[in-house]
Amino acid sequence: MKQLTVAGLADPIEVKTNRRLLDYLTEQGSSITSACGGKGLCATCHVYVIDGMSSISKVTPRERRSLAMLTNCRPNSRLACQAKIKGPGIHIEVPHGRYLSQTSDLESLVGRRAEQPILHPVDGHVLIQLGKIITRSRIRQLAQVDIDVLEMRQRSLTIGK
Ligand code: FES
Repeated sequence: MKQLTVAGLADPIEVKTNRRLLDYLTEQGSSITSACGGKGLCATCHVYVIDGMSSISKVTPRERRSLAMLTNCRPNSRLACQAKIKGPGIHIEVPHGRYLSQTSDLESLVGRRAEQPILHPVDGHVLIQLGKIITRSRIRQLAQVDIDVLEMRQRSLTIGK
């Protein structure tokens, strides 16, 4: 058994070789989502590897292409659905913010300040900054997000894991 540490979670998690980081994050109740169904096509399972990059499977060509689209990508970025555990000592951090699934999800928040940055689910850029008031006009401006999500989901249907 190996241990995985997730910033913000109190205790390290016991993990098995060859399981995906995403599986453990999901089991731990992390806010991380998987908008593309774990196909390596979105930003919603993006994590930063603080320690233990050599204990994770190598970046695949598809993951590399998707990471290149992320506006908040760093040298230690990985997609948790593509990253398999290979060794001990992995410490990861989930980027701060809430990924939008569809713009209608914001309707119930109109008139309120964003309690965390609202992020684009495909490229991770900030759609609404922390503390900004969410307005109907801003939601209308974000219509392209729904189109991007639809395209990404259609692409995800054409490829295997
Ligand atoms: S769930 Fe979409 S890239 Fe990992």
